[in-house]
Amino acid sequence: MYLWSKLSGAQWIDAWEERFSGNANFVMEYIKGGKSVRLQVYCGTKKEADAIFGQFGGSVRKVKDADWKKAPEPPKPLKVRDAFLVTAETNAKKLAALRKEHGKRELIVIPPEMAFGTGDHATTSTCLRFLVDISREREAGKWSVADLGTGSGLLAIAAAKLGAKEVWGCDFDPFAVAVAKHNTERNGTPQVTLAEQDVLKWKPRKKGYDVVMANLFSTVLIEA
Ligand SMILES: C[S@@+](CC[C@H](N)C(=O)[O-])C[C@H]1O[C@@H](n2cnc3c(N)ncnc32)[C@H](O)[C@@H]1O
Repeated sequence: MYLWSKLSGAQWIDAWEERFSGNANFVMEYIKGGKSVRLQVYCGTKKEADAIFGQFGGSVRKVKDADWKKAPEPPKPLKVRDAFLVTAETNAKKLAALRKEHGKRELIVIPPEMAFGTGDHATTSTCLRFLVDISREREAGKWSVADLGTGSGLLAIAAAKLGAKEVWGCDFDPFAVAVAKHNTERNGTPQVTLAEQDVLKWKPRKKGYDVVMANLFSTVLIEA
């Protein structure tokens, strides 16, 4: 038995219920304070759990007998080179304290919601480090980025903050696009535009993009 789990803001409850309606193994638990919920889906196979993880992020673990009551940890702040601190924190006072503590690093706020990409997964943090390095070889305002499978929009937001002039992100999941749009507003990056688009049906524009990010399963990458 495998358990997929993820923390989410309570405003997404209806959407989560819709997404997992009819799945008898879906559990939603309110977290003290009422602002967040813990979502869990018990899966018979790792493949099933990984498929949910591939779309929404969170975590997957094998369930052991002694493990049933162990709660998943909320994502810890992530440092990316000397450029960013990615945090799930939304409380203004706590954000001000983080800003003070990490003076040089720019904050990116991505609370756990209905999309993959809070920075706690190694593939996201690796893409972020690549992006910081790539940005240092480029002149601010003179490069464009496509972010395929944008999830929470984290990579697109980081690209905009690193000086990309034009950033286009897409996801085939409309909930992810809604979350990403909210996150671009939250992080003050209006140069990011987002679209609901399946990468497998995507026709890139003729002039292309200077940088393409695509943190997707290899099966999708190969097919695309
Ligand atoms: C592993 S997450 C990456 C999210 C974010 N870019 C990051 O790096 O953390 C993959 C995202 O791609 C989306 N996705 C998967 N297959 C896709 C496809 N064929 N077309 C568009 N989006 C896709 C999923 O909905 C999910 O949001």
